[in-house]
Amino acid sequence: MNANDDNVIEAIGLRKTYRSGADELVIFDGLDFAVRRGERLAIIGESGVGKSTLMYLLGALDRPSGGTIKFNHRDISGLSDAELADLRNREIGFVWQNHSLLPEFTAVENVMMPLLIRGATHDDALAVSMAGLDEVGLRQRASHRAGELSGGEQQRVALARALAGKPKLLLADEPTGSLDYRTGGMIMTLLEDLHRTHDLTSIYVTHNLAFAGRSDRILRLDKGKLEMSGDLFHAETSNQQDTPYQTAAMGSDSREPATSPDDPGAGRSLGETRTKRSRTAQWMAGLMHREGKHYV
Ligand SMILES: Nc1ncnc2c1ncn2[C@@H]1O[C@H](COP(=O)(O)OP(=O)(O)OP(=O)(O)O)[C@@H](O)[C@H]1O
Ligand SMILES: [Mg+2]
Repeated sequence: MNANDDNVIEAIGLRKTYRSGADELVIFDGLDFAVRRGERLAIIGESGVGKSTLMYLLGALDRPSGGTIKFNHRDISGLSDAELADLRNREIGFVWQNHSLLPEFTAVENVMMPLLIRGATHDDALAVSMAGLDEVGLRQRASHRAGELSGGEQQRVALARALAGKPKLLLADEPTGSLDYRTGGMIMTLLEDLHRTHDLTSIYVTHNLAFAGRSDRILRLDKGKLEMSGDLFHAETSNQQDTPYQTAAMGSDSREPATSPDDPGAGRSLGETRTKRSRTAQWMAGLMHREGKHYV
């Protein structure tokens, strides 16, 4: 099998520009990368560098100004708006920083929404959505209005909604950006668990280096160019049993791996976490050494 057969997304010469009056604002140009099936990719970079812009393109919410995006080996640039909407509805789950739930609707109604749009019956959508709320630990809050839930609970509902349609790709743009560290850690752990149980490919944007360090690879955007961390995913997929998580440590320093309940890595055994001190984390350590710890 060709190594590229496993690519869910390929970006080839990707370019995005915005008009600003008479000027053309180039956000990035010539980005080339692929995301493989089953991979967890973190995207980092300074504010304004184009992370959300890239997520919109990968999620077929916007079209590139140049270059190509292939989704499951299919160039999506020729698809109509309706075809792109269908692709999004069936293949991609989205989670945003501000959950974007409808506050007047109940938790379960919010989760049902994409299924009803897709044409599911009310009963089927309800059953799937209740199961989804169960997975994120919120079954007992199903009939609460979304607007009455805490930020962390709302984000859990948003996760259930994103996965209700059984997508293969999950895109999360700063999913913990509005949450305190502990709640954010719980959401990241949930994302990682759902990644496994739903057999997902996950891409998430984060400003949190500890969270980024738990991914398989990191894509860093900087002044319109990209830099990739080491290829941990390929190195370790030969032994899936051994590699569900990487350490949350930010480098090869003396910081011990996560063990406290306050830490997003809690729940992983110390030995397991130690052995997962990852190449991703080493890459981040090099980056921080080079550019100082305020680079994100
Ligand atoms: N629709 C638009 N029209 C014009 N400029 C835009 C548009 N959307 C984004 N931009 C500009 O593109 C650049 C990248 O924006 P983007 O939202 O992708 O950044 P980001 O990396 O996600 O930042 P943050 O970390 O703050 O979320 C910014 O300079 C922004 O002002
Ligand atoms: Mg953004």
